[in-house]
Amino acid sequence: MNPTLKGATNPHLPTPYSPTPLVIPASEQAITVLLVDDQATVNEAIHCMLEAETNLTYHYCSSAEKALQTATQVAPTVILQDLILPNSDGMTLVKQFREDPATCDVPIIMLSTNDNPQTKAEAFAIGINDYLVKLPNQIELVARIRYHSQAYLNRKAHTAALVAQAHAKELEQTLQELRQTQAQLIQTEKLSSLGQMLAGVAHEINNPVNFIFGNLTYIDAYFQDLMKLLQLYQEKYPEPDSAIQAYLEEIDYDFVMDDLLKMLRSTRMGSERIIQIVLSLRNFSRQDHQEMKLSNIHDGIDSTLLILSHRLKLGINVVKDYGNLPLIACYPAQLNQVFMNIINNAIDALLDQPNQRKKEITVYTNTLDKNHIQIQIKDNGPGIPLAVQTKLFEPFFTTKPVDKGTGLGLSICQQIIANHQGTIQVISKPDEGAEFIIQLAVQSAVA
Ligand SMILES: Nc1ncnc2c1ncn2[C@@H]1O[C@H](COP(=O)(O)OP(=O)(O)O)[C@@H](O)[C@H]1O
Ligand SMILES: [Mg+2]
Repeated sequence: MNPTLKGATNPHLPTPYSPTPLVIPASEQAITVLLVDDQATVNEAIHCMLEAETNLTYHYCSSAEKALQTATQVAPTVILQDLILPNSDGMTLVKQFREDPATCDVPIIMLSTNDNPQTKAEAFAIGINDYLVKLPNQIELVARIRYHSQAYLNRKAHTAALVAQAHAKELEQTLQELRQTQAQLIQTEKLSSLGQMLAGVAHEINNPVNFIFGNLTYIDAYFQDLMKLLQLYQEKYPEPDSAIQAYLEEIDYDFVMDDLLKMLRSTRMGSERIIQIVLSLRNFSRQDHQEMKLSNIHDGIDSTLLILSHRLKLGINVVKDYGNLPLIACYPAQLNQVFMNIINNAIDALLDQPNQRKKEITVYTNTLDKNHIQIQIKDNGPGIPLAVQTKLFEPFFTTKPVDKGTGLGLSICQQIIANHQGTIQVISKPDEGAEFIIQLAVQSAVA
């Protein structure tokens, strides 16, 4: 998915829509009548019948040649048309009206001296809306004009409302796309600056810790040598000089020897741990947006947990139940971001429960079939209400205070997982915690 950013100058941006037209009572709607008839006397008679009508404008056209042009100009709400016109057959003119976009929907009442049912049927067949024998009764003519005009105006209003609705929908979709793009941009920016920072810190720590660790091996060896030398002295000179004896007692020789060994061991353990952390930082921040790699998902989860250990130490137990997963073709740094967001959310939810005693996050992994794996991250926190669940993956949806939540975490997770052609879903019941389930293909044709 690649939403396009639509700016104000983009010609594809829908034009602002006007609100749904107001429904104006029939009696108040403006009616425009166009009579097309070659006989001036008919014009006079019809004009006379309509003269007293309110909200009614009357136009007259005496020839078929000018009828279409006049209709386009005056925009009639109803056309009264003679069946027999000089130089043109009235039926042909009806067809022309019907083909012209300006008049194709305008009601046509045919006026004719011909009362033959066959003629009437033919006229209806080509698209007229009504048929009156000349000269019609005034009351009936007015009623029919009003009826057809009203139906026409209602249809127009309805069409306008539909167009407005379609525009509104299009705008809403554009807005949604914009928000998605914005979220993506923010996240990409955050990811890359976080990644760069972690990679930088890891690099800076890596050098000194490596020489500490390297030196420890020699310190250990030199210490063993010195101990051996002292032992040799003791064996060869079991009765030391009184000054030496006094100094041995002063420094508590036996304790120092014993403690030095222990300190060396714990220093080695400490630096091994730093090396492990540096490795995790590098693993987490791998700047590998460009290419997919075959990666060990468990390494990613472990690095994420290690980075979050300062928060987990606040009283959350982590249970790992790992299956035997194959290497997965993926963007590991992006997947680590997903684990980070989900586990961080679980920690937030758990730490928000001051009275809960046993707080736990469980990570299960397993293979579904030869080509698919599943990762479940579950917490025993307060759970997610159904109303919240439906909005969970929307960008900017958050229930957290402004300084704590951006509402972007899960929307980003969804994008990343979709980009890996996988799925992410949530299962949660209030008071029973929340569980996020991610399914991924072992080999996916990632976009
Ligand atoms: N494990 C969870 N337990 C309870 N609520 C959760 C959990 N994970 C996510 N949520 C809810 O989903 C919302 C959206 O999460 P997210 O998109 O990560 O944004 P943020 O964390 O910034 O609020 C959170 O505000 C929270 O209400
Ligand atoms: Mg979050």
